Amino acid sequence: MPQRTEDGSFTFFSEAFGEAFHSRLGARAEAFEKFAQVTRLATLARQFVEPDSPPIHLLDVCYGLGYNTAAALETLWAANPDCRVEVMALELDSTVPQAAIAPDLLAIWSPPVQNVLRAIAQHYEFCSSTLQAHLLIGDARQTIQQVVAQGFQADAIFFDPFSPRRCPQLWTVEFFAQVAKCLSPRGILATYSRSASVRVAMQAAGLHIGNIPLPDRGDRRSHEWSQGTIAAWSPDGLPPLSQMEQEHLQTRAAVPYRDPSLSDSTAAILTRHQQEQQQAPLESTTSWRRRWRIV
Ligand SMILES: C[S@@+](CC[C@H](N)C(=O)[O-])C[C@H]1O[C@@H](n2cnc3c(N)ncnc32)[C@H](O)[C@@H]1O
Repeated sequence: MPQRTEDGSFTFFSEAFGEAFHSRLGARAEAFEKFAQVTRLATLARQFVEPDSPPIHLLDVCYGLGYNTAAALETLWAANPDCRVEVMALELDSTVPQAAIAPDLLAIWSPPVQNVLRAIAQHYEFCSSTLQAHLLIGDARQTIQQVVAQGFQADAIFFDPFSPRRCPQLWTVEFFAQVAKCLSPRGILATYSRSASVRVAMQAAGLHIGNIPLPDRGDRRSHEWSQGTIAAWSPDGLPPLSQMEQEHLQTRAAVPYRDPSLSDSTAAILTRHQQEQQQAPLESTTSWRRRWRIV
């Protein structure tokens, strides 16, 4: 059942994961602000020059309604209508993109992008002179291995699973290690999560991390310090973590999720995580919160 968010665009609620697919503040806005803008797609599109430039490669982890791919295409083609793009998208449940092509939901996108979303949902691919897109249906822990085997090197990775507590299997050190293999040397991975365990898992996969600063929108409460994380192979140009965020990575909240065989159940991953947290010789997150007056 679609739910309207505060920017007028729709999202879904997953009964299986007990969570909405997007921020209630705006599903469409989130796709632009947290994914298309922070991965600097407009700049990439402007650098694209026919016939020398290779296509811009995008990896959309957890395609869902396809909003991140859609916002990326809108951004790229607004900056340069001629730039060629290759999209690889991963999604568990094919009924989600199919439900998202109802006319009311598609109406927020331009007609060319609507066509792309329709074709991806119905045929799992779209091919034109400017776009090659493929949707791989299945558990991303397995489908990512096909992407790795193809040598796919993404300029931008949109990393958008349900939250770590609901879907820990996609936030583990081992899964990030697979995803990182698909990140090009100058590519950027973006996620809405600012969780310490997620940030440490990215670092364990060899990536440097930066903060996605909050937009300037008036009063902010003490627990609102970032709207996500970006990661890359080089620290150059990444907005640095604040002292408070760096110290967060030294607390028990920073113990990462693990899934050595990339096949454990949610319950097994959560239990392992809880045991490792209890044994970790790290500062408690409560004491870190108290020190930084986070309520
Ligand atoms: C937060 S939603 C993604 C929202 C999406 N990016 C969008 O713009 O609509 C998370 C998505 O992850 C998918 N998912 C859950 N577990 C998965 C798994 N193991 N592999 C691949 N996708 C998974 C869900 O079906 C859901 O569509």
